[in-house]
Amino acid sequence: MTTLVDKDACELLDADHIAVKHLFVEYARLAFAGGDSAAAQKLALAQSICGELTVHAQIEEEIFYPALREAIDEPQLLDEAEAEHQQAKELIAQIQQMPAADAAMDELVAQLNRAIEHHVKEERCELFPKARIAEVDLDALGAQLKERQQELVAAAGKPPGRAAKRK
Ligand SMILES: [Fe+2]
Ligand SMILES: [Fe+2]
Repeated sequence: MTTLVDKDACELLDADHIAVKHLFVEYARLAFAGGDSAAAQKLALAQSICGELTVHAQIEEEIFYPALREAIDEPQLLDEAEAEHQQAKELIAQIQQMPAADAAMDELVAQLNRAIEHHVKEERCELFPKARIAEVDLDALGAQLKERQQELVAAAGKPPGRAAKRK
């Protein structure tokens, strides 16, 4: 049985989408506020955004997308999703190389936010509904995704603030 603690694959991934959206909103708020203290917080937020998205993309690519490739007969949807991950990774790499949270970083974070918004919309509106009607055990996949996510977060050595809630 699915509970709030044990999310199925789509619920777990969408919880990540929502969590990272909050980080983007907070970044945008600080970018609007400006000032030196905002710059330090923006840098930390940008690192969290990049870290969370990197783990999220990796668990989708390792576990969720391959399972869907087997279960639904629409490889083009998964090809497109993977191409969008690649574009996001290029933006993430650029953001991670920036030494300070200046206007150039604000622009890159805003660009990443738009790219992720588009990608999440496709996952929510196209991939997840197809996964839900396919012959795929979303509860078992959810458990696998959660386990791999915890491994990757632990390996990164810096658990995100909400990691405690996942235990
Ligand atoms: Fe996703
Ligand atoms: Fe994705």
